[in-house]
Amino acid sequence: MKSFSRFLAAAIASAAVLAAFPSNAADNSLRDLMKKMGAGLADGDAKALVPIFTQTKAKTKPELTDWARFADEGKAAAEKGDLDAAKASCKSCHDAYRNTYKTKYGSKSP
Ligand code: HEC
Repeated sequence: MKSFSRFLAAAIASAAVLAAFPSNAADNSLRDLMKKMGAGLADGDAKALVPIFTQTKAKTKPELTDWARFADEGKAAAEKGDLDAAKASCKSCHDAYRNTYKTKYGSKSP
């Protein structure tokens, strides 16, 4: 029993340390936006995508030089209700930046 409570004390102490220093500083905010993008697209709801493209645009980083253009193209297409064109901008951005963003700034960042 004594060794169990010592184990428990150690477990509590290390949990406190982990809570104080989160080891995962990944930024999931764009990934969460993208889940909404995927849902809007699946619903065929072009108008719902417009504000999400705007929020996506704001997530750009200085070296991602075509990011804003891809987001603007998607937004313009969504405003016109053209889901195929909107989808093309998803692909353009994913092909160009998805992995870079994800590993450097996004859900898989250190
Ligand atoms: C301007 C860039 C950009 C545009 C435009 C864009 N995406 Fe993304 N998308 C990303 C990036 C970057 C990630 C990876 C984010 C991360 O994991 O941190 C991503 C990830 C995703 C994911 C995976 C989410 C998860 O659960 O891991 C989905 C689904 C997705 N996008 C759907 C879409 C759809 C649908 C569109 C168009 C309607 C779109 N995206 C347009 C950049 C973009």
